[in-house]
Amino acid sequence: MSTQLDKKKLQAPQVTTRKLLEMKERHEKISVLTSYDYTLARILDNAGIDVILVGDSASNVFSGNETTLPITVEEMIYHTRAVVKGVQDAKGRAMIVVDMPFMSYQLSSEDALRNAGRIMKETGAHAVKVEGGKGSIKAVKRITDVGIPVMGHLGLTPQSIYKFGSYKVRAKSDREAQELIEDAKLLEEAGAFAIVFEKIPKGLAEEVTQSVTIPTIGIGAGNGCDGQVLVVHDMLGFNTDFHPRFVRKYANLDSIICTAVKNYIHDVRQGVFPNDTESY
Ligand code: KIV
Repeated sequence: MSTQLDKKKLQAPQVTTRKLLEMKERHEKISVLTSYDYTLARILDNAGIDVILVGDSASNVFSGNETTLPITVEEMIYHTRAVVKGVQDAKGRAMIVVDMPFMSYQLSSEDALRNAGRIMKETGAHAVKVEGGKGSIKAVKRITDVGIPVMGHLGLTPQSIYKFGSYKVRAKSDREAQELIEDAKLLEEAGAFAIVFEKIPKGLAEEVTQSVTIPTIGIGAGNGCDGQVLVVHDMLGFNTDFHPRFVRKYANLDSIICTAVKNYIHDVRQGVFPNDTESY
């Protein structure tokens, strides 16, 4: 049965890999935010976000782990299903990209393909994201060869945090910068449709953005990238203890929610909630 909503969905142009490429060519900036649940995904899509990343940052933000390493394929599938439903119940416009978790694509390109296939088949998402350059190229190629779009991720790659030893800015040395330039080229050649640059110098991000034909999405990489991504909980101010330079806080939900909850507790304790109009 065709409903008003179905018609609206059909009219709304879906953001696709092709559209992102066209946006780069037209110098239109691409907006990306994370989401791990139905409610926020619905709000983000209704607000007009281009891409929703179901990031493995869910491991930190949603589950309270110190790193992204513990999150599993099953957990990413669980989060992504909720996000897909949220977008479907909104404008149905945003492209949904899912992080492939640590050790779901590193063992072999066959294993990478199997896990990427599972994520696509079991969630309804549109693409996957993998971290790393040279070492991930076989997996990226194998996954893109069957038609699954892959987003790359270079610079600070949180799945390698124990190798780096810190969350400091990456690619500051000439050697590391050169490596990143080469990795970006390799990802492009392997068929990646976009690359996230996390915490690298602004000048380097700008240089690589101009040297590749695919869109680059920055987080802590300056405004020379083709788009920007932030963890939605950071930009909404859910965490008062996290103040990295690259996060702009667009709201202060920690204090808004805290005040609302305190007011609720007060009203319950005073016996003034619910009142007669809030009762049956
Ligand atoms: O997991 C995530 O949220 C990410 C972004 C920080 C790019 O990978």
